[in-house]
Amino acid sequence: MLIAVTGSSGRLGRVVVRDLLEHGHDVLPIDIQSAADADAPLTRLADLTRPADLIPLFQGADAVCHLGNYPAIGQFPLTGGLANNVAATHGVFEAAAVAGIRRIVCASSIQAYGIVTIRPEARPSPPLYLPVDEDHPLLPRDAYPLSKAMGEWIAESFVRRDARLSVFSLRFTGVRIKPAPEPKAPAIGGALLTAIHVDDAALAVRLCCQMDRPGHTPLNIVHPRSTVPWDMASIREYYGCEPELRRALKSDEALITADRAREVLGFVAQISPGIASLAA
Ligand SMILES: NC(=O)c1ccc[n+]([C@@H]2O[C@H](COP(=O)([O-])OP(=O)(O)OC[C@H]3O[C@@H](n4cnc5c(N)ncnc54)[C@H](O)[C@@H]3O)[C@@H](O)[C@H]2O)c1
Repeated sequence: MLIAVTGSSGRLGRVVVRDLLEHGHDVLPIDIQSAADADAPLTRLADLTRPADLIPLFQGADAVCHLGNYPAIGQFPLTGGLANNVAATHGVFEAAAVAGIRRIVCASSIQAYGIVTIRPEARPSPPLYLPVDEDHPLLPRDAYPLSKAMGEWIAESFVRRDARLSVFSLRFTGVRIKPAPEPKAPAIGGALLTAIHVDDAALAVRLCCQMDRPGHTPLNIVHPRSTVPWDMASIREYYGCEPELRRALKSDEALITADRAREVLGFVAQISPGIASLAA
C-alpha cells in the first residue's frame, strides 16, 4: 500500500514512517518541516491547512495517516494552535476526498474527553465514569483538547458525506519515546496515569491503515496498566468529586480502557511505556 503520512517529521510520525516501511508499505512523508533523521525518506514539504497543495501529493495513495497537529498548545495566544490543528485536519480530509482516498487514520487524543490537560491552570472536566471508554462524551475545556474533539467532528462530517469512508480516530494517551520514571507526585490530570510506548502507538496506526471499516471509529490507544497504582481518594481530591466506577478495577489497571481497540484491531499494547514501578 502507498500511505501518505502527515506530521511525518514529528516524534510519532518518524516512528510511524519507519514502522510502515519495515512492514512492506510505501510511504509518502508530508510535513511543513523536514525530518531531522539523516536516513529518513525525503519529506514533501506542505502546509496541511492548504488543501489545494495536498491534492497532487495524495493522488495514487491508498490511505492517509494524519498525524500533523501541534500537541503542545500551551501558551497565550492559544487560538493560533487551535486554528492550525482544526484547519490542518479539515485540509487533509478535503484533499483526501478530492483525491478519492477512502481510508484515513487520524491521531486524536484522550485529551478530547476533556478529562486531562497539559496546562495545569486549565482545570479539566471530571470523568463521568471510570474506566473511560470511547462512549464517554467529549467535554473539552481547553484549546488543544478542543482542537482534537473538533478533528473528530470533522471526521464524522466527512463520513456523513460518503458512507464508504473508513476513518479511525486513535485517541492516544501520552506517547513515551523513552522510559520515563513517574514523578514522585504523579499528575492525575496529565494523562489520568496512563501512557503508551511509541512503538505500540505506531503498531495501532499500521493496523488501522491495513483495515477497511466503513464509518468513523474512535479507539483509545492506552497501555492496559496504570503508570502507578491509583486510589479513589486521590482521584476525588483532584477532581473534587468521585466518578462512578462502572466495573471492578484493580489499582494497577489503567483508568482509560483500550478494550475496544482489542476487539476491533486485535491491538493490545505490548511494551511497557517504561514506568519504573511497572517494569519490576
Ligand atoms: N505525543 C503525544 O503524547 C500525543 C498524545 C496524543 C495525541 N498526539 C497526537 O499525535 C500527533 C503527533 O504528535 P507528535 O507528538 O508526533 O507531535 P510533534 O509536534 O512531534 O509532531 C507534529 C508534526 O506535525 C507537523 N505539523 C503541524 N502542523 C502542520 C501543518 N499545518 N502543516 C504541516 N505539518 C504540520 C509539525 O511540523 C510536526 O512535525 C498529533 O496529532 C498529536 O496531537 C500526540
